[in-house]
Amino acid sequence: MLLILSLIFATVGYVLFNYHRARQRVLNIRSHFGGPDVHYFFGNLQMFFGKSIPEIFEIVSGIHDIHGEDLVIIGPFNELILDLSSSKNVEKVLLAKSIRKSFAYDFIEPWLGKGLLISTGEKWFQRRKIITPTFHFKMLENFLEVFNSEADILVSKLKRHAGKVEFDIYDYITLYALDSICATSMGVQIHAQDDPQNEYVIAVKQMSTFIIRRIFSVLRNFPSLFFLYPYAKEQKQVILKLHNFTNSVIDSRRKILEQEKADNKVAFDISEEDMYSKRKLTFLDLLLNVTIEGQPLSREDIREEVDTFMFEGHDTTTSGISFTMWNLAKYQDVQQRLYEEVIRVLGKDQTTKQLTNMQIQQLEYLDMVVKESLRLMPPVPFIGRSLVEDMEINGITIPAGTTITIKIYNIHRNPKVWPEPKKFDPERFSKSNESTRGPYDYIPFSAGSRNCIGQRYAMMELKVTLIKLLANYKVLPGESMANMKVKTDLVLRPDTVIPIKLLER
Ligand code: HEM
Repeated sequence: MLLILSLIFATVGYVLFNYHRARQRVLNIRSHFGGPDVHYFFGNLQMFFGKSIPEIFEIVSGIHDIHGEDLVIIGPFNELILDLSSSKNVEKVLLAKSIRKSFAYDFIEPWLGKGLLISTGEKWFQRRKIITPTFHFKMLENFLEVFNSEADILVSKLKRHAGKVEFDIYDYITLYALDSICATSMGVQIHAQDDPQNEYVIAVKQMSTFIIRRIFSVLRNFPSLFFLYPYAKEQKQVILKLHNFTNSVIDSRRKILEQEKADNKVAFDISEEDMYSKRKLTFLDLLLNVTIEGQPLSREDIREEVDTFMFEGHDTTTSGISFTMWNLAKYQDVQQRLYEEVIRVLGKDQTTKQLTNMQIQQLEYLDMVVKESLRLMPPVPFIGRSLVEDMEINGITIPAGTTITIKIYNIHRNPKVWPEPKKFDPERFSKSNESTRGPYDYIPFSAGSRNCIGQRYAMMELKVTLIKLLANYKVLPGESMANMKVKTDLVLRPDTVIPIKLLER
């Protein structure tokens, strides 16, 4: 008995001793950066106990106002997390050769699989290479056709609110963006704009909430204990709904292609020429037809990419368009100047016709407005990495395994770079002002090899939608706008709604 007790004491003592030594190591690293005080076991996680998702966002984004550009957060059980918002260190991390996505992405994986957002190494490299041409600038004209017609539908759907009380624009934009990504990249029309209770859209919101809750939970480091979470069972059902939806989109496109082949309309060939001109080869067509080392992609392979692009291709642009509308409602002078530019360049009745790429390129102030909106309200406010090798940062060795959060939201609000950072001021992006900043002071689409593959698509979608909306409506702030809070799960969202009013022009 005495022997067993001695063994237990010795083991506990050994574990505590190691725990304490690890604590001293992380505290030593923190002394080079600064950061909030920590609980002995839960680290800084205790700051988030019992907090709502908007409150979590406030803490996570506000922490730099207290502790500076770069700081150390300590997770439960001595987990080291570096929170970076200085361009110098962000550049170093984004350009690092061997690095992977952080633990938070593991929680997205049951939904998105190892699609382009999450995959690493050779798999990522090969996929990025085959998918990149489907988002080439030569494809923009094809996308434009869809954005034009879907934005016309959006304008007509919003008519019922013109001259009436405030309403939420966010959900309308979500359905519009979902229709757009399905039509452009999947070659399938789903008419989500006619279906406000769209199951996929609701499931995306639920899943995003589950993921953010898990990131800020104590058991996050123990994946095998996920079954203990109150929403574990519900998450399974939600993922099933998400996958059923993407499977149905894939099946629809497969049938269309088979029919086209049977009718001899298509001799499928993934050549450059085929890709960009002869016919509209979509992202999904490519996945359905590509072979890698003689093998076609499996059903799972295809679905993980479709899941990734379906999500990334609509939730991010929804956030971008909606928050730009919010900014334009608040800053009437900017809206007026933008409206005048649109009418001056395009003419009043041009805006009801198909907008061309050439016309959109002429709208310089629109470009400045969109860039400023993506600065102030970046749709992807935070991204995460995990060090695969030791890295020297601020003159100290940060060990492999450390989690790094890149705080795009805070980089974009650094007062040293952006005077009066909370002010919406598109002049920051005038030609003369742009040259005063470095490339890592503004990274709404991230940077380096893992940057956003859809950035041209996104800019084009944002611009077409804003032109069509502004040409048809004057946007005013709703009375409850002052109470609006912001939150983030996977993208930046309003706490509840974006309340605006519309007046017909
Ligand atoms: C305003 C809209 C958008 C913003 C602000 C945005 C931002 C970003 C950011 C910050 C990343 C890096 C993520 C990370 O490092 O974890 C990223 C990656 C990615 N984005 Fe976007 N995105 C937007 C629109 C889109 C669209 C429209 C698509 C697809 C059509 C898309 C597809 C992707 C994909 C697949 C990745 C992963 C790329 C890789 O790792 O190779 N995004 N995006």
